[in-house]
Amino acid sequence: MKILVTGGAGFIASHIVDAYVDLGHQVVVVDNLSTGQMANLNPQAKFIDCDITDKAKIQKIILEERPEIINHHAAHIQVGYSVENPQFDAQSNILGLLNIMQAAKEVGVQKIIMASTGGAMYGNQETPFSETMKEQPLSPYGISKRAGELYLNYYHEIFQIPFIVLRYSNVYGPRQNAHGESGVIAIFLEMIGAGKQPVINGDGSHTRDYVYVDDVVKANVLALESDFVGELNIGTKTETSTNEVFDKLVAELGLDLQKEYGPERIGEQVTSSLDYSKAQEILGWEPTVSFDEGVKKTVEWFKNK
Ligand SMILES: NC(=O)c1ccc[n+]([C@@H]2O[C@H](COP(=O)([O-])OP(=O)(O)OC[C@H]3O[C@@H](n4cnc5c(N)ncnc54)[C@H](O)[C@@H]3O)[C@@H](O)[C@H]2O)c1
Repeated sequence: MKILVTGGAGFIASHIVDAYVDLGHQVVVVDNLSTGQMANLNPQAKFIDCDITDKAKIQKIILEERPEIINHHAAHIQVGYSVENPQFDAQSNILGLLNIMQAAKEVGVQKIIMASTGGAMYGNQETPFSETMKEQPLSPYGISKRAGELYLNYYHEIFQIPFIVLRYSNVYGPRQNAHGESGVIAIFLEMIGAGKQPVINGDGSHTRDYVYVDDVVKANVLALESDFVGELNIGTKTETSTNEVFDKLVAELGLDLQKEYGPERIGEQVTSSLDYSKAQEILGWEPTVSFDEGVKKTVEWFKNK
């Protein structure tokens, strides 16, 4: 199949591109390299440097390439910056998506797969979060992702374009860089690598659900073949505290590093984990890489990069 992957030079989608290429698909990557890197890019994929907010350019690409499937991962992902500048966030995450969808309906795209957020979608409800819970995004980033989901529902209802939204928890693994705030593993590794002391915001008891990137890739592969339309959580249903993350990384690196704490960030979610039983039922997906194993692989990559 011909698949257009937006954000395919970034952390998660570059791994998806690798998997799609390995499966024999023809892959076109659209990325503006704002946070992605050419080094991540699979040489067998066609690369087009384009900002999805450039309506004329992205629409011309879709009209010319005529992909059968669009896998949409390009986005502004910094929650903190989305609070400071919600317009910028909405520009790429909402208007960028609309630029893509307006062209997608012209060329009869068979399906769109979109990366959404599970961590920033459900607010402070009781964990684990399930898709049956009310969406309560508490940041402009989460709101922009929810808006994207609603627009995909609109394009499905009115123009019959099927979609699968994958709501990820905190994804980690090789190629993640430290710019995204949800990537505490990458942030800590980057700081330790630079000889700096990582600072834990608050008392380190806040929890997140860490899912390894290879498992996220599997969900994107299974989504190609599924007839399901709607949203699916992709996480592990397991909560890991920031203190535990720190301890695990330090142990894996064989370092003797004490924890240092800074002020708690206002409005930060306390706990987070995703119930993935719907993805299990519908896609036959479940996480397979344990946190221990995932951290080992990530640290190994980090040491060799
Ligand atoms: N990392 C996580 O834990 C996580 C969790 C939930 C959802 N997601 C979603 O997964 C997707 C990928 O995230 P990631 O962690 O790989 O981040 P990333 O920053 O590594 O990847 C995003 C890619 O999109 C590109 N991009 C950004 N804005 C663009 C624009 N306007 N036009 C064209 N390209 C643009 C970047 O250059 C980059 O290559 C995003 O949609 C993000 O919201 C990530």
